[in-house]
Amino acid sequence: MHKTKVAIVGLGTVGAGVAKILLDHGDRTARNAGTTLWLEKAVVRDLSRARDCELPDGVLTDDLSEVTGDPEIKVVAQLIGGIEPARTIMLQLLESGKDIVTANKALIAEHGAELFARARELGRSIAFDAAVAGGIPIITNLSQCLTANQVSSLSGILNGTSNFIASAMEEQEASYKWAVKEAQRLGYAEADPTMDVDGTDAAQKLAILAHIAFGIKIDWKKIPREGIDKLLPVDIRFAKELGYRIKLLASAQLSDDGLELHVSPSLIRAGEPLAEVRGPFNAINVEGDQVGPLFYYGQGAGQKPTASAVVADMIDMAVGRTALTFRTLKLFTENHSDVQMCSP
Ligand code: NDP
Ligand code: HSE
Repeated sequence: MHKTKVAIVGLGTVGAGVAKILLDHGDRTARNAGTTLWLEKAVVRDLSRARDCELPDGVLTDDLSEVTGDPEIKVVAQLIGGIEPARTIMLQLLESGKDIVTANKALIAEHGAELFARARELGRSIAFDAAVAGGIPIITNLSQCLTANQVSSLSGILNGTSNFIASAMEEQEASYKWAVKEAQRLGYAEADPTMDVDGTDAAQKLAILAHIAFGIKIDWKKIPREGIDKLLPVDIRFAKELGYRIKLLASAQLSDDGLELHVSPSLIRAGEPLAEVRGPFNAINVEGDQVGPLFYYGQGAGQKPTASAVVADMIDMAVGRTALTFRTLKLFTENHSDVQMCSP
């Protein structure tokens, strides 16, 4: 079978999950890509750290040039979190001719325009379905499956860590502190979990989704946001007694006044689909003028669901389906709408 050399940069929770799929389930990638995705290199910062996956000899390295300097490596999963050095590494990978898959929403929300513009200039692609809602293919759906629609609203639970914490506080009467530590242990939380609990992560994801759905570039920092970090056990208990659950909702609504976006803890009546979303799961309601209402549900954080989305994008890249990402590259580098953000 023909093989396509690929690499991973960043071998933490998600990177190790991607390595496991590539190494343990090569038959699946070969079947779907028509070529074996051959893990040639995995770049880390600290070679001495224990890894959550076993790699063949010679794969692990702390030298990025073993990837950028190898023209046979075509596709790279960039799975370092945060802005730097992730941004610089993405640019180096593009310059060296790689197509990139990433799960880094902070980077896409903050520097997407710059990265996509460079990718277009160089004739390269960046895919990022894993960056929003983990295993739920929401980016692919919005950018490919729903393009005959004018989306009028998009709202849901976009941060698995916050949802895990609120669920644990309600169902197990767990303390906030314990639940945060548990979300970190299980690999749901960001390296700095403040980003999860203060609404930043959800706002970055909402900005990315809204950009694709409504065609307008949104500065995530301008989205009014509040996280679950100020929630008290008593808030959760009172909500429950009144027949509600508290969920961190991210919402984008289009009206004649413009596009209203916000992220905030919200009361959802028990029994409603969003109220039943527990643990690290995410859910998103989308309303399109042709398709009507859609409801997406699945694991929004965690190793396997996120790696599932990353590898699917890697297969698309390897198979040359880069045209699939053309629309998102275009969207992120051109102005497509006169709609403006408006106040809640
Ligand atoms: P981790 O913190 O678990 O892993 C990050 C990895 O990046 C580590 O292996 C680290 O190396 C490596 N790294 C950091 N700096 C460098 C560097 N300069 N050179 C090489 N490697 C470096 O993060 P996650 O796997 O959880 O997340 C990765 C990305 O995926 C983030 O952007 C996150 O937001 C996103 N994401 C995460 C999800 C999840 O459920 N965890 C879900 C969806 C998206 P070392 O191990 O040597 O320190
Ligand atoms: N920390 C993120 C979350 C990971 O909890 O949703 C998935 O993007």
